[in-house]
Amino acid sequence: MCGIIGYAGEKNAVEIVYRGLINLEYRGYDSAGAAFGINGRTVVFKRQGRVEKLKPLLEGLASGIGIGHTRWATHGSPSDINAHPHTSGKITLVHNGIIENYSELKAELEKGGAVFKSQTDSEVIAALMSVYYCGDILGALYKTVKRLKGSYAIMAVAEGENVIAAARHKSPVVIGYGNGGYYCASDEPVLSGECGEVSFLKDGDFALIKPDGVRIFDGELRETERKKQKNLAQAGSLELGGFAHYMLKELRQSPAAVKNTVTAFAEAEDKIRGALSGVNRIIFIGCGTAYHAGLIGKIYVEDIARMPAEAETAGEFRYKNPIVNKNTAVVAVSQSGETADTLEGARLAKSLGARVIAVTNAPYSQLTRIADTVVPVCAGAEICVAATKSYTGQIAALYMLALLLAGKNAEGGGLSGLPEICKNVADGADVYALSRLCAFSKGVYFLGRGLDYAVALEASLKLKEVSYIPSEGYPAGELKHGTLALIDNATVSVFIATDKSLTDKYKNSVEQVISRGGIAAIITDIDELETAFKGRAHIIKLPCCRGHLSPLVTATAVQLLAYETAVSLGLNPDKPRNLAKSVTVE
Ligand code: AGP
Repeated sequence: MCGIIGYAGEKNAVEIVYRGLINLEYRGYDSAGAAFGINGRTVVFKRQGRVEKLKPLLEGLASGIGIGHTRWATHGSPSDINAHPHTSGKITLVHNGIIENYSELKAELEKGGAVFKSQTDSEVIAALMSVYYCGDILGALYKTVKRLKGSYAIMAVAEGENVIAAARHKSPVVIGYGNGGYYCASDEPVLSGECGEVSFLKDGDFALIKPDGVRIFDGELRETERKKQKNLAQAGSLELGGFAHYMLKELRQSPAAVKNTVTAFAEAEDKIRGALSGVNRIIFIGCGTAYHAGLIGKIYVEDIARMPAEAETAGEFRYKNPIVNKNTAVVAVSQSGETADTLEGARLAKSLGARVIAVTNAPYSQLTRIADTVVPVCAGAEICVAATKSYTGQIAALYMLALLLAGKNAEGGGLSGLPEICKNVADGADVYALSRLCAFSKGVYFLGRGLDYAVALEASLKLKEVSYIPSEGYPAGELKHGTLALIDNATVSVFIATDKSLTDKYKNSVEQVISRGGIAAIITDIDELETAFKGRAHIIKLPCCRGHLSPLVTATAVQLLAYETAVSLGLNPDKPRNLAKSVTVE
């Protein structure tokens, strides 16, 4: 969603906030803005577009206190006016979240004479706070948030006060303890390199961030403490490290994500086993890529542990009346651990008595606080909006989970050597020619069966997300039940085929596409398919995919295909239009 950061201390807040916004930009890049205390005044700078547009405005400025915002637009189109910070009277603030009752509040404030410049819900918070402000910023923020419905992480300053007041409800705020200053931010990776220690505000908490310290308060303004923890985000993880894009850097880090996830699983195994004892049914929930990982988890649990399993998008799960009980484990899969639908799905499952297991790449996220136990994904910071290494990390974690449920030796589980195979695919798969075909097609269909179908759905999401080419994933057997009508010489059908026992079925489906004049491609490790379609279909030959572990190999290939396609169209795959990395609102 949006990214926010604040700093108070002896260093130059202008440099810290600007650098922070650059690193938070993956959370939204419709506009950026910042406010600094300079000579007793609050000075605001904001622009539509990327953070770098602020650079010339900030040149040569110095300040000891500042707040900043990078926006993913929800209420009000991307524009200079709608960019944060928003100011009303002495109050200036940045906000991440959605205020659901903003129209009522706006009408009430307008009756009292308030005039609004923007179309945002966030400006309403500033106006309300300005009404309540009489020299005590924390008191004004407290009274303000009592009136808000929805989600918020707020950082506010008042002209003449050398302090940032922060509050949170359903949107994250991390406090950072640095050398010579104190920070508040949307996530901890942005503080890597700046703060060795962090603490996390709980829902309903407030904080005052001053140049000489931080004070934290609970929902009733009683001063409290939130445990300081080591900032696990590694310094340097936010850098491109010589790669043209984060997407390429990160998909090449998949082997390490798989390896580290397997190691971390072994360390957490006893706890996970305890949380699963007596469970006789598993429901995977998640959104987007995480949901697609859940589909793979379902197949693993059914195949390997022979236990009933389902997978559902968290957005559907949270709005139904799910049948769960104490013997059901709801496994919530989320890279960020922040996705609103997934959090609500997990909360619902918990309230109904189910066990909640979080599979996440964010060890301190809200999801980990809701869950009974955590299955760690150790992919490291993922900056590209399109998920790559977190997906392969999730798949490795779900495979280990299924082995554990089956009472099989989770140590290794056939995974050894696999990271090396993924690396070879990431380094060597020749997807360039196929990416050109996709780039200039009018639609790309990904088809597969079983695990290959689950990966086909992810392949399609990845391609449309970064290249904007219409695409769909289908079970290969469904082709003849409708989709075949779309096939012509301007469409590409990409078959993902790794199940040797289905070779003849794949042959039939590929023949059907070719006979209708469509362009066919096959991503496969099956020699027989390569021989059968040499010269008639475009073949991406993979090393041996090893049954259940095939998604780790095929995923890398389709991620590379999406990347190459976006790049050949001159698009930036790291920041696809209209999207943001974590969707913390509905
Ligand atoms: C993946 O490429 C997407 N950016 C998106 O589908 C993402 O997986 C989804 O929003 C869920 O995010 P999460 O894993 O952080 O919960």
